[in-house]
Amino acid sequence: MQITHHCNQLRESDVGQQVALRGWIDRRRDHGGVIFTDLRDREGKTQVVFNPDFNAKIHEAADKLRNEFVIHVKGEVKHRPEGMVNPKMDTGAVDVYAHELLILSKCLPLPISINDNAEEAPEGEDVRLKFRYLDMRRPRQQRLIKLKSDFLFAWRKALHESGFLEVETPILMKSTPEGARDFLVPSRLNPGKFYALPQSPQTYKQLLMVAGCEKYYQIAKCFRDEDLRADRQPEFLQIDCEMSFVECEDIYAQFEKIFKSVVGEVWGKDIVTPFRRIPYSEAMLKYGSDKPDLRYGLEIHDVSEIAQKCDFKVFREIVEKGGVVRGLAAKGCVDFTRKIIDDLTAYVGKYGSKGLVWMRCKPEGVESQVGKFFKPEQLEQLREHIGGEPGDMLFFIAGKEKMVANAMGQLRVEIARKKELTKNKPDEYLWVTDFPMFEYSETEDRFTACHHPFTSPQDDQMHLIEEGKLDNILAKAYDMVLNGVEIGGGSIRIHRPEVQQKVFKCLGMSEEQWKQKFGYFVEAFQYGPPPHGGLAFGVDRVLATLESRDSIRDFIPFPKTSSGISLLENCPSEVDAEQLQELHIQVSGTAKKA
Ligand code: AMO
Ligand code: AMP
Repeated sequence: MQITHHCNQLRESDVGQQVALRGWIDRRRDHGGVIFTDLRDREGKTQVVFNPDFNAKIHEAADKLRNEFVIHVKGEVKHRPEGMVNPKMDTGAVDVYAHELLILSKCLPLPISINDNAEEAPEGEDVRLKFRYLDMRRPRQQRLIKLKSDFLFAWRKALHESGFLEVETPILMKSTPEGARDFLVPSRLNPGKFYALPQSPQTYKQLLMVAGCEKYYQIAKCFRDEDLRADRQPEFLQIDCEMSFVECEDIYAQFEKIFKSVVGEVWGKDIVTPFRRIPYSEAMLKYGSDKPDLRYGLEIHDVSEIAQKCDFKVFREIVEKGGVVRGLAAKGCVDFTRKIIDDLTAYVGKYGSKGLVWMRCKPEGVESQVGKFFKPEQLEQLREHIGGEPGDMLFFIAGKEKMVANAMGQLRVEIARKKELTKNKPDEYLWVTDFPMFEYSETEDRFTACHHPFTSPQDDQMHLIEEGKLDNILAKAYDMVLNGVEIGGGSIRIHRPEVQQKVFKCLGMSEEQWKQKFGYFVEAFQYGPPPHGGLAFGVDRVLATLESRDSIRDFIPFPKTSSGISLLENCPSEVDAEQLQELHIQVSGTAKKA
């Protein structure tokens, strides 16, 4: 089964050579006695011809060939006849005329088409996932597998060159609360006890800093039992990094440099550094999101002060009750129809908005459905404050600050989508900085950590922790954002055990509780921990964003569906009673049958 070439390699200069190729029959055509096949391997395609005049015996044998049979052929490279050259194929100038054929395996009729032109297979994603090994044969998917391999290799190289050590950490571990639910693994040897699969190697990488590792990285599998979406899988890959003796600035500089090198190497794109930085509070106000897409403007403005003084009751009353009114000017959207406005109103309704006020900026003045409730000068003031010009449509939402910020942010993204504002725009990288330490959770009726409990407060904020003013504490936490996607995040960590204990207390943990969960961790920090910090990138999110794909599933060889199922082997599945017994586990009667 030796070969002389891959299927992408033969050129005009090879004419006359004897060659050997192997691969899959991509397409077979019988043209009046001559059989043409495209032979495909990982690298590309070559047309292999079975001509009775060239070799009658092999031509007869080729009659049995069908799509996706695997063969090994030997033959002679010939010029394609005049007019038959295919400039779209790398090997389109030549044919290989076969004189030896070995059929290595056969193939049933295919359940999905393996057609490189199809962006989306017509059979739908479920069938593709069931036959993922066939789906991955499509050149479109093959390219993504290779891209991921090149990407990870470039990261390893860049990290290695910057002095990072690749260190492994356990998959069976004690649970680290990181916001999501843990996947649990029962221990047969320790009845009634469980391991958790890591949501990330967070605690271990910090212990590696205590161990003196200085610079760590790992391409780590992370497991989170959360509700899934296009950009979330229950298991996913992180490039997880940690460094000793650093502050935020060192992290920004280090990872901008590495990103520049990786993206230059894999995509040939130049990234401009340093990246823009936007504090969290500004991002929430101006873009209504902690991961703003900066490829377009549509900035949001707070007009609460003006709204409070106007005659429109809805706005005035909301501001009087402590709410806010915010608006944006949609450039050149003055002609949005009632239908579009109704759609947008319904859209922001999904995010809790009770309505959407619109105003058309016309040369003769501002026109609105609620215009009669405003004095002309009030309308003018609103227009001026948010920078509306003739030809623009203004939109406003009023309500509680958190809802308004989010709904306006979603409106901004939706308008950009409708107007195709991201088309052909350069990538926009930024750091979102100065995240809050804590976030009040209505459902849990307590403060939770915005990033995770090991994140350090900013240096001048310790007194707020002492005073219990948890609402306003800023953390040394940052996210890297690309085109409106959070591709990575991290923080400078707490390295003083007394601060860590206070933070656990702020999170509502009693001494007994944190000792039980994190005693080992706090103990380690009594033995000379270096100051340290780090971050982790979501590998598939970076790839999907740089390749402009909506779903990270494209980059995962064997992904799960949105209900966490692998259709390929139909998992999760039930297990034998004996297996359960060994693990001392009883499935309750209420568990639903699959
Ligand atoms: P965080 O939880 O922010 O931080 O995760 C880091 C990055 O991982 C990606 N990501 C995901 N990708 C796919 N599917 C998911 N379910 C998923 N969840 C997260 C995102 C995200 O930015 N230990 C900390 C990092 C640190 O502090 O160093 C952590 O895991 O791109
Ligand atoms: P209503 O008084 O409820 O009939 O609302 C009058 C107009 O104000 C309608 O066009 C609503 O879409 C809009 N509206 C009502 N509540 C809000 C709100 N919270 N934010 C923005 N617009 C609103």
